[in-house]
Amino acid sequence: MSRILITSALPYAAGAKHLGNLAGSMLPADVYARFQRSRGRETLYICATDEHGTPAELAAAAAGLPVADFCAQAHTKLYEIGRGFGLSFDHFGRSSSPQNHRLTQRFAQSLWEAGFIEERVTQQVYSLADRRFLPDRYVIGTCPHCGYDAARGDQCENCTRVLDPADLIHPRSAISGSTEIEIRDSKHLFLRQSLFAGKLRAWIEGKRSEWPNLVTSIALKWLDEGLQDRGITRDLSWGVPVNAIDWGPDPEGRRPDAAGLASKVFYVWFDAPIEYIGATWEWADAQAREAGREPDDADWERWWRAPGAADVTYVEFMGKDNVPFHTVGFPCTLFGVNEKVDAGGRFTPRENAPWKLVDELKGFNWLNYYGGKFSTSQKRGVFMDQALDLLPADYWRWWLTANAPESADSSFTWEQFQDQINADLADVLGNFVNRICKFAESRFEGVVPEGGQPGALDEKLEADVLAKLREYTGHMEEREFRKATAALRQLWVLGNQYLTEAAPWTAIKTDRDRAAVAVRYGLNLAALFGKVSEPFIPFAAEKIADALGEPYPGRWPSLEGGVLGTLEPGRPVRAPEVLFRKVEADQVAEWRERFGGPEAAAEPA
Ligand code: MF3
Ligand code: ZN
Repeated sequence: MSRILITSALPYAAGAKHLGNLAGSMLPADVYARFQRSRGRETLYICATDEHGTPAELAAAAAGLPVADFCAQAHTKLYEIGRGFGLSFDHFGRSSSPQNHRLTQRFAQSLWEAGFIEERVTQQVYSLADRRFLPDRYVIGTCPHCGYDAARGDQCENCTRVLDPADLIHPRSAISGSTEIEIRDSKHLFLRQSLFAGKLRAWIEGKRSEWPNLVTSIALKWLDEGLQDRGITRDLSWGVPVNAIDWGPDPEGRRPDAAGLASKVFYVWFDAPIEYIGATWEWADAQAREAGREPDDADWERWWRAPGAADVTYVEFMGKDNVPFHTVGFPCTLFGVNEKVDAGGRFTPRENAPWKLVDELKGFNWLNYYGGKFSTSQKRGVFMDQALDLLPADYWRWWLTANAPESADSSFTWEQFQDQINADLADVLGNFVNRICKFAESRFEGVVPEGGQPGALDEKLEADVLAKLREYTGHMEEREFRKATAALRQLWVLGNQYLTEAAPWTAIKTDRDRAAVAVRYGLNLAALFGKVSEPFIPFAAEKIADALGEPYPGRWPSLEGGVLGTLEPGRPVRAPEVLFRKVEADQVAEWRERFGGPEAAAEPA
């Protein structure tokens, strides 16, 4: 059985994240991790804060804090909010960790040795007013591709194209707003990505039948536009320093100009994905510390390097803006450390055991707010920390995965949220569990009843449940979360239909054995629902498990049959506290007012 390595795009250490960020990376990764653990697979879910580069620097400046302090605080805060949402990270690391610094430098050195890095003199945006270079997000201007007038120097938020600050029309400084800008020379290291164009295309073509169309089409569009070599250093002081690298002997006189690079750091998009590995290393070090043993590289390398990682399936989760960096940028880094190229352009593997590339890549479209963008600056839409003050995590988790922007963008509205939460969670699941447990308490002394023979109705239930469970499990394996939540809801509905037909409250008046069978099946159904709902609504699943004396987290039921026989007669059970309260109309009205409704969303972000 394969081991499962899961990563979700690393949130920038740049303040609160909105529900769209959660819906498109960390939440589905967590749902999948919980599912795989419950299936009995060895699973490692890794995430971290992405702390370098201009996003963190700009946010720190806005908060008036030194960037290191700001990042430390942002890390703690994001971790705590994540826990509040029930995100079951095995490790939540920091891209500023010593492990990531070392790996990033090691990778750069290795790319250099293989001839994949070149030093070039580039033209960079320099602000006279700020007396400094303005890399990436320090420049704002008009996108040359789509005309969006608040495009940032690294990427246009509107058309997702990756940009160079010097491409922007009417550039201005994000620090001072000054337009007194000139272009100055600056030396930088370039990763020769263009060498990998053919290799990448073949690799992505090979994933076409497995990866969502969204993902392969974004990747192929990038390749079609012509793969450019990529600057992997920046004129910044916060980040992984370039100067700490030993470039080794210089037989051909092509050694980088160490002095010229001394004040630079690696580009955030170079070191951030490496932190997937760095955070795994952090995790292994922490495990060793806890167990009181010496850290051993083998502990984290077994997830990332052949041959140890041969049985690992690596699954990444991210929003569509991140797809180019994970289908092109990071794979180029890994191809480059895994291989060398000769003068004729032929690649051969290098001796060091190769690093693992992604196997399954789940990309998401945008979750919007009433059809417009969530916006931090314009205070429109709900942010992760606010959401938890309004309602428990399960409500959000359920709605956000049931409406995941898988095949197209989707929209959050309070009205739809209210309808769906009330219908699915309160009326269908909550009501079922409550009804059956209460009835067992009041009429069967709070134990799983014994006696009676199952009949046609019960056998049909078992067959229907098994069929639906197989369908549901298949969607989960495929990471099709909308389909999975629909199947799960249908599974819950089977429970209510059964209770209505079996009507133990009527049967008990004339035939106690018949009622016993129905209650026994009903309680078993409730236990099953708890188990298989855990990936989406872990907090409610725990309450259900407690009420029925089941272990939590539970094991996924066998798909071979016998799924309704886990609760032995005589076992004490009780009704859980209310699982889901209905969302009320006055709450919706208040929240719409507070977070902005359709009117607010009509403006551009
Ligand atoms: N911080 C980036 C963002 O929010 C995502 C980084 S993903 C990783 O868009 F590849 F760097 F890890
Ligand atoms: Zn654009």
